Amino acid sequence: MSRTVRPASPADAGSLAAIDVSVNINPWNARQFAAACSDANAKEQFAMVVEEDGRTDGFLVFSQVLDEASIYSIGVHSAQQGKGLGHLLLQAALLKMKEAGATRCFLEVRQSNAVARRLYKGNGFELDGTRKSYYPTEGGREDALLMSRCLLRNMQ
Ligand SMILES: CC(C)(COP(=O)(O)OP(=O)(O)OC[C@H]1O[C@@H](n2cnc3c(N)ncnc32)[C@H](O)[C@@H]1OP(=O)(O)O)[C@@H](O)C(=O)NCCC(=O)NCCS
Repeated sequence: MSRTVRPASPADAGSLAAIDVSVNINPWNARQFAAACSDANAKEQFAMVVEEDGRTDGFLVFSQVLDEASIYSIGVHSAQQGKGLGHLLLQAALLKMKEAGATRCFLEVRQSNAVARRLYKGNGFELDGTRKSYYPTEGGREDALLMSRCLLRNMQ
């Protein structure tokens, strides 16, 4: 079994959007993925892809402005979840941000998303605060947890 994480290319946009729509409650649209996967130098978001045996299994999208990076979205194909691919993607993205000069990485996660919270906590993210009733749910609204981690220390 061979696993790799690499920067996305324009050809990846369709498969990343297909994974996103199958696993995320508020998926990005095709245009947003096309922008994050484009070859443009001045783009605002960057997408990374995790592959296992050549099959595209997941993605992570982040932005970076000077020393601050933000994770916008992460998704692993439902059939491949729980096998460490999310961890692999996150570690690769954090390293890339750090190499590009970021000192802190920020993200937001739904309070109810126990798996994502576990992934982030296990990778050094700490709770900074909450945005009350930020996300819509089927029955109402739920809080967003604001998390961040320093990128200056060694990656875990
Ligand atoms: C969140 C997500 C990206 C994690 O990717 P993944 O490949 O499934 O995660 P990993 O296998 O690397 O596991 C990460 C942690 O979550 C735990 N985990 C994974 N699946 C789990 C499950 N079904 N139940 C409980 N814990 C689980 C793992 O045990 C691991 O924790 P540990 O390191 O303490 O053992 C993936 O589940 C996903 O795409 N979810 C839907 C989209 C989503 O919620 N995105 C996040 C929005 S903020």
